Amino acid sequence: MAVIIDGKQVSATIKEELREETARIKKQHDTVPGLAVILVGTDPASMSYVRSKHIACTKLGIYARDYQLGEDTTEAALLEIIHELNADDAIDGILVQLPLPKHINEDHVLMAIDPAKDVDGFHPENVGRMVTGMETYYPCTPYGIIKLLEYCSISTEGKHVCIVGRSNIVGKPIANMLLQKSPFGNATVTVCHSRTPDIAYFTRQADIVIAAVGRAQMITADMIKDQAVVIDVGVNRVEDASRKRGYRLVGDVDFESVKEKASYITPVPGGVGPMTITMLMYNTIASAQRRIRTSQK
Ligand code: GUN
Repeated sequence: MAVIIDGKQVSATIKEELREETARIKKQHDTVPGLAVILVGTDPASMSYVRSKHIACTKLGIYARDYQLGEDTTEAALLEIIHELNADDAIDGILVQLPLPKHINEDHVLMAIDPAKDVDGFHPENVGRMVTGMETYYPCTPYGIIKLLEYCSISTEGKHVCIVGRSNIVGKPIANMLLQKSPFGNATVTVCHSRTPDIAYFTRQADIVIAAVGRAQMITADMIKDQAVVIDVGVNRVEDASRKRGYRLVGDVDFESVKEKASYITPVPGGVGPMTITMLMYNTIASAQRRIRTSQK
């Protein structure tokens, strides 16, 4: 039976440190970190994430400004808001919730964000910095995974990590981070995706499996090596008439069977999820620290 990694607990520990840091910044520099979050449309999951981000900011003493824009917002109108936020001294971080409606070009939007305020780490300049091992903002979900492993003293050095999923938000960045010559890197990385003929062939060889595909319970016990570490990034809604809201959340991993075989496993909810928002707060505070340092020069 695996150790169940408590993402809520790790997240609470880091958030307490972050709350202390915002209090120190306020006291010593008379300023607070600021985060702007932009949501276009009314996707229920996105609305729920944006709400959680706002609550987290408020609890940590971060100034939060939300933009809830209609589904029919034009790309030009969205770019105009981003330009204003780039020039706004009260804002250290800008996050545009993805996915965007189809009529808006995601690349144009991500490239419009000032890389210094790109707390998601999605701007191509920051992606390039990450891949080459320069200082940058690490994307929040991959960074959260690294922090969870670190808190559990799970080393990635020389380990085979198999990532299932190749998204720009999780799969590609976590693969690059684990490849770095750094204490949380030095792994041998395999990335599987929808065109991989036999995913199980790769996952069965892995010391650490990271599932980030968005397919409910697709990673089953027979796909996992004995005593592997299993990190589940998936958040899938499955119908459940016994629940008041009519659905429940499950991961990409078949938790009940895999937990009997793995050495460590993250649950859904309560595993990677809480870490994503915590690392967003971390990046926003890091941006404010940089702003203060630069203004002192
Ligand atoms: N949608 C799902 N995850 C994320 C994230 O980490 N950042 C943004 N901006 N959108 C998302």
